[in-house]
Amino acid sequence: MPAAEVRAVAAVDDALRADLLACWTDVSNAGGAVGFVPPVQPDEIAPVLDRLLEGVHSGRDVLALLTVDGATAGFATLVGSLSPLRRHWATVLRVQVHPAHQGTGLGRVLMAGVHDIARERGWEFLVLSARGGTGVDTFYRRLGYQEYGRLPGAIRLAPGDDRDDILLACRL
Ligand SMILES: CC(C)(COP(=O)(O)OP(=O)(O)OC[C@H]1O[C@@H](n2cnc3c(N)ncnc32)[C@H](O)[C@@H]1OP(=O)(O)O)[C@@H](O)C(=O)NCCC(=O)NCCS
Repeated sequence: MPAAEVRAVAAVDDALRADLLACWTDVSNAGGAVGFVPPVQPDEIAPVLDRLLEGVHSGRDVLALLTVDGATAGFATLVGSLSPLRRHWATVLRVQVHPAHQGTGLGRVLMAGVHDIARERGWEFLVLSARGGTGVDTFYRRLGYQEYGRLPGAIRLAPGDDRDDILLACRL
């Protein structure tokens, strides 16, 4: 039975950065809704990953790393607010499980880990957004997220293929 684990990571070294970049590229090219449209190359994702890691290294944000038998199998990031009035909650970005592991319950494991990390940090609720038409909002609704808003047509995948940005929140 493979051992799945989620842990908070505050410092990302070069080896882990390479794992994250490979995972994000594979997830995107398999059609995952994590900011890109296939086909996508690692060098298009790298600057976006590096911006995310800047926040992690600043101490404001956290990387939630999913491993299976010690190997990277997915991740998510928890991004805190810069506003002193919004320090009690965070935004979850880039939730992903590597295509080789999708559909085996690891998304649920990853999000349970995200919630544990958020509670340890004192965050009281989490928000995230899901791309309309992918079914991913159903995944989050099953975990207790509720839709609090929707921006119709906010995501343009291609000319003529606009998707809603579905805004979801979960109280911890
Ligand atoms: C979304 C994602 C993280 C879910 O992880 P996963 O390991 O595939 O999901 P799990 O096997 O843990 O599924 C948990 C439950 O959610 C449901 N579910 C998962 N993905 C779903 C989808 N796209 N549509 C509808 N339901 C879904 C599963 O059927 C399962 O339901 P059950 O509890 O009734 O059995 C993963 O599929 C993924 O990385 N997708 C690509 C990236 C992406 O789109 N991320 C979302 C960013 S907002």
